[in-house]
Amino acid sequence: MSTRKDKFTAQDKQIMKLAFNIASSRKGLTGNNPSVGCVITKKNQIVSIGRTGLNGRPHAEYNAIKDCHENLNGSKMYVTLEPCNHYGKTPPCTKKIIKSGISHIYYPIEDIDKKVKGKSFKILTKNKIKVYRGLLKSLSKDFYKSYNINRKKKLPYVTGKIAVSKNNLIYSKKNRKITNELSDKFTHVLRYKNDSILITYKTLNKDNPKLNCRLKGLEGFSPKKIILDNKLNSKLNKFVITKANKNDTIIFYNEASKSKVLHFKKKKILLIKSRLDKNKYFYFQDVLKKLFKIGCRNLLIEGGGILTNNLIKKRIFNEFYFYKGERALSKFSDYLKFEDFDLLREKYKKKINLNLKLGRDKITLFKK
Ligand SMILES: NC(=O)c1ccc[n+]([C@@H]2O[C@H](COP(=O)([O-])OP(=O)(O)OC[C@H]3O[C@@H](n4cnc5c(N)ncnc54)[C@H](OP(=O)(O)O)[C@@H]3O)[C@@H](O)[C@H]2O)c1
Repeated sequence: MSTRKDKFTAQDKQIMKLAFNIASSRKGLTGNNPSVGCVITKKNQIVSIGRTGLNGRPHAEYNAIKDCHENLNGSKMYVTLEPCNHYGKTPPCTKKIIKSGISHIYYPIEDIDKKVKGKSFKILTKNKIKVYRGLLKSLSKDFYKSYNINRKKKLPYVTGKIAVSKNNLIYSKKNRKITNELSDKFTHVLRYKNDSILITYKTLNKDNPKLNCRLKGLEGFSPKKIILDNKLNSKLNKFVITKANKNDTIIFYNEASKSKVLHFKKKKILLIKSRLDKNKYFYFQDVLKKLFKIGCRNLLIEGGGILTNNLIKKRIFNEFYFYKGERALSKFSDYLKFEDFDLLREKYKKKINLNLKLGRDKITLFKK
């Protein structure tokens, strides 16, 4: 229901929500460009939908118009972000919109990109298109947080995750499995939605993880693998190292012998030298800057206890998924406990219980 102050109808809101759901399906997969969703209606019927192409092109508005077989005269377009208005690798969407006969356009917020910001309103209204801004603005601000961090700060958007057992262990030598298969599938969705994944050499050597996306049909969307390994102590027989392919595996290091460097280079691993902080840990802002420079826009960190603790303290994660498994793990042999729940709550004020129906496992999302 719309309130008196609100110029938008319940139907407007419903359609814009649909546009966001469409945008969501491509989130994390559109490279430098934002993931945008678009719905076109005519006489209260949906006549077309569109979303941003993989790696950012074509744009959602272009796709929605191109795929529509109705005459668009007098139709309404709902799009999750201000349409582009400049010539880049593709012609401006505003031009296509004007030519199509669309008479009303709704978008929540302006694009942060300076080339676009605010200019489409003038172009569209000058061409007698009615433009409505502000529909589902707060949803939009949240949705485009990662895009804004990429554009404004020139840093990747950072997502963290950790899984703890019923008795708060993150590792037990006796029984390795913390979460159930449904939770594991959700982890693979995160891997699908992030272009890069980061762990340390300690986790690499102990767990020998594959770090790929194993959702059926989406294996090709596996993230690049990043390992923090100051002295190049990663074992050469680990899965990620043996399967490294040119540029899809990167190790950050600081001090290592020439022969070690050569070993890793031979394995087609990209080595990046990076400085350490006073605790002799990698200076993480530098790691992030360097990753952004080589194309990383969305980074997933599956850290062990020490890395996770450090990054929570510094509020490096933009969001953090906390998995709680239903089983208690053994403490009779080597184990590690997660001690930072209070710290997490202190540093990340927004806490959302995701109702994902994962059997008895639970996932809580923490945000700044
Ligand atoms: N349950 C889960 O979700 C989960 C996820 C991942 C791992 N694990 C478990 O966690 C265990 C490993 O955890 P861990 O706490 O021993 O190690 P970790 O968090 O994986 O790695 C910490 C180490 O990374 C290096 N490092 C480099 N830069 C760093 C930085 N900026 N901040 C923090 N550390 C940095 C340091 O080693 P140097 O000082 O030697 O350079 C540090 O000791 C494994 O047993 C694994 O099974 C559990």
